[in-house]
Amino acid sequence: MVSVEDLRTYFDTPEGIVRAVDGVRFQVPRGKVFGLVGESGCGKSVTALSILRVLPPNARIVSGQILFDHGDLCRLPEAALQRIRGNRIAMIFQEPLTSLNPVFSIGYQIAEPLRIHQGLGRREAVTQVMDLLRAVGIPDPETRIREYPHQLSGGMRQRVMIAMAIATRPALLIADEPTTALDATIQAQILDLLAEIRATTGSALLLITHDLGIIAETADAVAIMYAGEIVEQAATTTLFTHPAHPYTQGLLASLPRHEGGDRPRRLHAIPGTVPKPINLPEGCRFAPRCGRCIEACTAAHPAVREIAPGHLVRCIRA
Ligand SMILES: Nc1ncnc2c1ncn2[C@@H]1O[C@H](COP(=O)(O)OP(=O)(O)O)[C@@H](O)[C@H]1O
Ligand code: SF4
Ligand SMILES: [Mg+2]
Repeated sequence: MVSVEDLRTYFDTPEGIVRAVDGVRFQVPRGKVFGLVGESGCGKSVTALSILRVLPPNARIVSGQILFDHGDLCRLPEAALQRIRGNRIAMIFQEPLTSLNPVFSIGYQIAEPLRIHQGLGRREAVTQVMDLLRAVGIPDPETRIREYPHQLSGGMRQRVMIAMAIATRPALLIADEPTTALDATIQAQILDLLAEIRATTGSALLLITHDLGIIAETADAVAIMYAGEIVEQAATTTLFTHPAHPYTQGLLASLPRHEGGDRPRRLHAIPGTVPKPINLPEGCRFAPRCGRCIEACTAAHPAVREIAPGHLVRCIRA
């Protein structure tokens, strides 16, 4: 479906080259949910932006391939990419308020991809927008269609973003922290909605989050990112039952668990912070925070190994 191969996306900055995404490889099969997880700054959003080539001007894709629809998105001419963006591949962002245009009604904005990519007239577009608003669970669509983003709650705005994204029935939906700005109840509703949409449209979903709890409930397979690299990748059940990388083990240990009472267990946060992707350590990038680090870990950069079929780990001791 979509296959990301050895993707490297770097930023040129006055301080030097920022290796934000540094050799990332994964596949999102048709109709499946693939989770991309990691702490803030590890390169999740830059990976997503690279797929659609909507990167900031100081970014460049240094190497790699993004195979989709028999083409390589890294090399496709801009005009061809414009026919894919918001059509065959659509993206849902974390902050609907900054992604929605405040001066246009939500009906107008949801209709836009339909007009651009499917050439629908006003009347046909309105009918489809009504259907979409119902599909994403927005009550009273006849009224809502004329409203502006500021008149909606955060949860409703996120539903509008989803309606926009699924309007053209994309083959791939990329959701970058789609529920981070929402409270827990609304978050669960939005995740249910995404699952329902995937089931009815057959879209593949690349779900980006810093929250492993969300992945446990929704993803078929998962990749854990650290400092621009994938450090572990497996089917979701495997990753949760047999985490092999010390970073994954640390993330799982820091998940709040409910034990009897309704109070979450104390968090075991992993000490230290993600290294800046500028002047990265030579050897294992997790070494400064790793309790299992030995001399060999800092001597050479660990390669990815397949420790069981489909279970990839970048750690010499896993
Ligand atoms: N415009 C930019 N210029 C320089 N560095 C950037 C820029 N945007 C992002 N980065 C760096 O790229 C890295 C990855 O960022 P990002 O993909 O946004 O992380 P996240 O996993 O939180 O989504 C971060 O270290 C960030 O500082
Ligand atoms: S390679 Fe060494 S430092 Fe890196 S995660 Fe594995 S044990 Fe820890
Ligand atoms: Mg991000």
